[in-house]
Amino acid sequence: MSAPSTYVPKSAVGKWFESRLPIMGLLHSSFIVFPNPRNLNYWWTFGGILSFMLVAQIVTGVVLAMHYTPNAKLAFDSVEHIMRDVNYGWLIRYLHANGASMFFIAVYVHIFRGMYYGSYKAPREILWILGVIIFLLMMATAFMGYVLPWGQMSFWGATVITNLFSAFPVVGETIVTYLWGGYSVDNPTLNRFFSLHYLLPFMIAGVVVLHIWALHVPGSNNPAGIEKKTEKDTLPFHPYFTVKDALALVVFVMMYIWFVSYIPNFLGHADNYIEANPAVTPAHIVPEWYFLPFYAILRAIPDKLLGVLAMFGSIAVLAFLPWLDTSRVKSATYRPLYRQFFWLFVIAAVGLGWLGAKPPEGGYVLASRILTAYYFAHFLIVLPLLGLFETPRRLPGSIAEAVLGKGGSAAAVAAGAAQSPNTKG
Ligand code: HEM
Repeated sequence: MSAPSTYVPKSAVGKWFESRLPIMGLLHSSFIVFPNPRNLNYWWTFGGILSFMLVAQIVTGVVLAMHYTPNAKLAFDSVEHIMRDVNYGWLIRYLHANGASMFFIAVYVHIFRGMYYGSYKAPREILWILGVIIFLLMMATAFMGYVLPWGQMSFWGATVITNLFSAFPVVGETIVTYLWGGYSVDNPTLNRFFSLHYLLPFMIAGVVVLHIWALHVPGSNNPAGIEKKTEKDTLPFHPYFTVKDALALVVFVMMYIWFVSYIPNFLGHADNYIEANPAVTPAHIVPEWYFLPFYAILRAIPDKLLGVLAMFGSIAVLAFLPWLDTSRVKSATYRPLYRQFFWLFVIAAVGLGWLGAKPPEGGYVLASRILTAYYFAHFLIVLPLLGLFETPRRLPGSIAEAVLGKGGSAAAVAAGAAQSPNTKG
């Protein structure tokens, strides 16, 4: 947990303020002297990247909302107005649209990192479940955002996905009527989606605060998957991890800007530059790339209700991961069998994503069914059993030992500690 604040304000005004609202002390103990495991690798920079992307999406979104009109007759034209007439409107829009994709790239890396290193295990279960809630909110936000330009894919994507809720017995039709605000996707639907698309990112920001709070109770997990014990195992957040996070962020933002500058429409669908037309159904209705694995699971199952349940179940099952994985060892580095199953799972997830973009026919359907079965088997069969049968490799005695080796490490640790007087155990 964050150590009691050691922050001492220098100025009289600072002291006056701090004794009334100790916010600088909180920031200081959380992001300056906070003791992080010394062995964190670059996969641990994605939480910071995600925080940056959330702010980027909110800032660009707020500016877009100043020029966008949430009305079924005007929305499409207002987006073209942003692209052509508003100063740098094209840039803001492309940053926001591609930013959503970057956000999902980062969140998938973040989730798979957690799965590889067992970051969901005790004592980080609540932290993980808050992450799953964020993921659900992100998906809802992205789905509603995609409807706003009121293009063909916006309209038909919204129609297909909202219709899914009608599969639920008794309440299904009522839910769909509430989602639509009427009897089809129309102006009231666009209005409520705009309102919620603006609201949800702020709710995500709130859950992120809880997420980081829950993180700071035990502190970060690490590639060795063993908890920090002594001061030797840690380094202060600043400058070690602020610099590492900043470098990763710069590289990530370069990729983001590359997309925006050179292929801003690559991740979108051409049909969304055609205004929504309820009378013309596009040849293929495909969601954004980040929904494709879940879309493949939905379509793999012939029964509509079971398909919907499988799709939601494939996300809900993540919340139970801390209890489905029975191994006491966290990191895949020390779990030879789990490591292989982890990569099989990644291949299955990517395969489902590929299949989600294919027409639901012939071999594609069969392949989707096999991979869907494997997806669930990973959580419900492989993970519970693996913990019982796998023989893990011997764990290092401490994080310091994992990094510096058993012998000859003392000098290196002492040198490291001497350079970091701020380190707290
Ligand atoms: C807006 C989205 C999110 C933000 C801003 C965010 C932020 C962060 C930050 C700053 C950290 C600490 C740095 C790091 O470990 O990378 C972190 C850790 C973590 N996050 Fe997230 N996160 C988000 C989404 C998620 C999701 C969707 C999940 C899982 C479903 C998740 C699970 C975790 C876990 C388990 C850790 C602890 C990792 C460890 O200590 O090994 N996060 N998150």
